[in-house]
Amino acid sequence: MKTIAIAAVLAIGVFGAGAAGASEALAKSSGCLGCHALDTTKKVGPGFKTIATANKGKADAEATISAKIISAKGHPKVKAGDDDVKTMTKWILTL
Ligand code: HEC
Repeated sequence: MKTIAIAAVLAIGVFGAGAAGASEALAKSSGCLGCHALDTTKKVGPGFKTIATANKGKADAEATISAKIISAKGHPKVKAGDDDVKTMTKWILTL
């Protein structure tokens, strides 16, 4: 039993890191990282970590921010698809 539990934890850990890595790769290939740093460094836009901190505890942040980016109102137009923007927004808010 114990072995199974440990294996499950490891699997989640690996999967989690994989998902974050995939989101980061997506942000890179979508050109987001040209304007945003992953940490709190300000480039053209605020660092992703700064954005995550600013939105901690806001239940509607994910929906509001992805809608803002997708509609390109108040955010520069991006070349990523709607689903990709949602995936990245979700990930950014966990940083
Ligand atoms: C041309 C530069 C530029 C590019 C490219 C860019 N951003 Fe931004 N981003 C900004 C600026 C400037 C802001 C700050 C103004 C604002 O809040 O919209 C911002 C803000 C944000 C915010 C915070 C919005 C909020 O309401 O707090 C998120 C999240 C974000 N960007 C994600 C992304 C993602 C994901 C991509 C790639 C698909 C991306 N950005 C590409 C310039 C850019």
